[in-house]
Amino acid sequence: MKKIGLALLGLGTIGSGVMKVLNENGELIKKQEEIEIDVRKILVRDKAKKRSVEIEPSLLTDNYDDILNDDSIDIIAEFMGGEDPAFLYIRDALRKGKTVITANKEVIAKHWEELDEEARLSGAGLYFEASVAGGIPIIKPLRRSLQANRILKIMGIINGTTNYILTKMTEEGRSFEDVLAEAQKLGYAEPDPTADIEGYDARYKLSILSTLCFRNRVPVDRIYCQGIKGISADDIKYARELGYGIKLLAIAKKENNKIEARVHPTFIPLSHPLYAVRDSYNAIFIKGDMVGDLMFYGRGAGDLPTASAIVSDIITAGQNGKHYYVKFDQEEPKFEDNWLSEYYMRLVVKDQPGVLAEIAGIFGRHNVSLDTVIQKLRDKNNATIIFITHKASEKWISNAMKEINASPSVISVESLIRVEK
Ligand code: NAP
Ligand code: HSE
Repeated sequence: MKKIGLALLGLGTIGSGVMKVLNENGELIKKQEEIEIDVRKILVRDKAKKRSVEIEPSLLTDNYDDILNDDSIDIIAEFMGGEDPAFLYIRDALRKGKTVITANKEVIAKHWEELDEEARLSGAGLYFEASVAGGIPIIKPLRRSLQANRILKIMGIINGTTNYILTKMTEEGRSFEDVLAEAQKLGYAEPDPTADIEGYDARYKLSILSTLCFRNRVPVDRIYCQGIKGISADDIKYARELGYGIKLLAIAKKENNKIEARVHPTFIPLSHPLYAVRDSYNAIFIKGDMVGDLMFYGRGAGDLPTASAIVSDIITAGQNGKHYYVKFDQEEPKFEDNWLSEYYMRLVVKDQPGVLAEIAGIFGRHNVSLDTVIQKLRDKNNATIIFITHKASEKWISNAMKEINASPSVISVESLIRVEK
């Protein structure tokens, strides 16, 4: 029987979830995995705060040094959130040879090289299964089960909060603010929900996934990012009329040493398997050159699903302990930002002769071919026009939109959303 001295950094949604899993399944883990996990200290900001799990008060500390300098602590599990001081705490723990488990995608995505190097030097383990897609096992399969492949493509829904919001707005016609407040109450949202809404959380996760998949560092700032704030009830309504739903997708591809990586709201057909991924569920497609298509599906956020991934890492680290670092490709990749996609656009224009022909002409001059055009009367003088294009490059679309925006016939460009069929 191996005995592990564990410290937790954080006792919020996820920290409490970890305590619940250990309380509920600690005996099972002991019996099956021959590991006894003993929580020795828990770092919090406010020791007096009421907690959702029962905690022996002497375990709580608000001083990190109590943990760092305690030789009986072998493993530190971090779920405080934010970049600082979490990054410094993780770095110092690794430096001291203590293994770290973290759910913190921001820290891993931004400080991969430095933490990897600290772990390599001290020989401590660094594990981050819970940093991507909550309870879904994705990091371990990528590291341990798909080594025989070149990964060509990743596409998925990797933020539970925005998926929850879009699902409830679509199915129940509820407002963005109302559903966001509910997602926060359910513990899906980040401590600062801007990270979810603006797409940053999904971008950190895509940086981690694509770095692992392509064996090239894919820094956060090389990933195009657009959140769901601009998605209106009208877009959701028109999407349905046209046979689509709206999802926040994360997409990354590698071809001929060129990497394309992006996070944005996307129209997908109602028959697409990702459309069936509702609420806080996540799903990730991976295409390997040998294995073909794989799909991973499950709860992408929430206390117990995320704690399941964290406790699994604690067990693996207790049994193995060594850092499994990624050997990067020697060849530097190029990053592509002029990718091809189809587009949905909604414009309000003057309702007068020749306007439709004028706009179609602008698209034509910029190489953009149209698939669908629908005109709807909005009021006496103005009309709403909806376009869906064929595949066009980002540059063609952006040049066409500049000209459309400048046209005196156009009152406003209401939305511009990519389509993935
Ligand atoms: P949370 O509920 O806000 O909990 C944060 C905890 O960290 C609190 O207990 C807080 O102490 C403590 N803390 C924060 N800053 C601290 C500091 N400077 N010093 C000491 N303690 C500090 O957040 P959460 O939802 O559990 O998320 C935590 C992490 O897990 C984030 O990195 C998030 O991205 C990741 N994650 C979350 C989910 C999810 O579904 N929520 C899923 C996967 C990954 P007090 O309680 O005293 O304030
Ligand atoms: N806030 C994140 C989400 C938590 O909603 O997906 C899981 O990483």
